[in-house]
Amino acid sequence: MSAYIVGVLVPLVFTFILRNSKKDKRRGLPVDVGGEPGYAIRNRRFTDPVTSAWEGISTLAELFEQACRQHPNKRLLGTRKLISRETEVSVDGRSLEKLHLGEYEWLTYRKTFEAVCSFASGLAQLGHKSGERVAIYADTREEWFIALQGCFRRNFSVVTIYSSLGEEALCYSLNEAKATTVICGSKELKKLVDISGQLDTVERVICMDDEQPSNLSLVDRSLTWNITSMAEVEKLGRENPIEPDLPLGTDVAVIMYTSGSTGLPKVK
Ligand SMILES: *[C@@H]1O[C@H](CO)[C@@H](O)[C@H](O)[C@H]1NC(C)=O
Ligand SMILES: *[C@@H]1O[C@H](CO)[C@@H](O)[C@H](O)[C@H]1NC(C)=O
Ligand SMILES: *[C@@H]1O[C@H](CO)[C@@H](O)[C@H](O)[C@H]1NC(C)=O
Repeated sequence: MSAYIVGVLVPLVFTFILRNSKKDKRRGLPVDVGGEPGYAIRNRRFTDPVTSAWEGISTLAELFEQACRQHPNKRLLGTRKLISRETEVSVDGRSLEKLHLGEYEWLTYRKTFEAVCSFASGLAQLGHKSGERVAIYADTREEWFIALQGCFRRNFSVVTIYSSLGEEALCYSLNEAKATTVICGSKELKKLVDISGQLDTVERVICMDDEQPSNLSLVDRSLTWNITSMAEVEKLGRENPIEPDLPLGTDVAVIMYTSGSTGLPKVK
């Protein structure tokens, strides 16, 4: 008799407990963020949408500064210098390029932060004004990151452009974004000079490589750009430091033209 009762009661009690605990486990609650209702969900443990995992940090500039303060002596950026390139032809006739790279050379958080602060000051000293946009047009590398963080510290919105972007799309992106400063490598600088006549807003170019392409014949092309190397900009900023002009969480940090930006937009 009692075995029957247990046999009925136990599953009932378990079902009840499970049903309740399932209700507690509901992790998402609908939240109104404008737009069509029912699509936005928030974690039930938070009352507002979470914008940052760190208290008091609401921008990338603040986050970077905090990281540098916490880990000054840790390695942040590693670069291997290109020693030589050689092309090997395999048995089936295909040629393969082999790169010989040196050992990693590291920048610590502290050194990177110093470079970022100098670059930020130098960029402003060079004449880039607040409200104007900076385009970074290069492969990912140490200088890319320093330039990006430098712009964040001055509340300059950054336009990132893939170094493989075609001429037409490159021209379109720079004009559409109204970039006044372009930061690039020497390989990209050549491409820029080729389309310089069609660029409406560019006033200055900062080249990441110290040795700029010698044969640009800039004068011939009546180029009005001020071309500086990244090292010169950092030096200018080191010698004339200015206070940062940090953005708010609502300011635009980056406008990205990605590998999806293959050409001109398909809309009219
Ligand atoms: C380029 O910028 C440097 C540094 O501000 C300035 O001294 C120089 O006159 C500028 N050159 C041109 C052509 O604007
Ligand atoms: C950052 O720059 C934008 C664009 O110029 C400007 O609207 C905004 O007020 C600036 N933010 C701060 C905190 O100065
Ligand atoms: C540099 O330009 C000069 C004059 O246009 C030309 O004669 C020379 O071949 C060029 N050198 C290279 C390495 O392209």
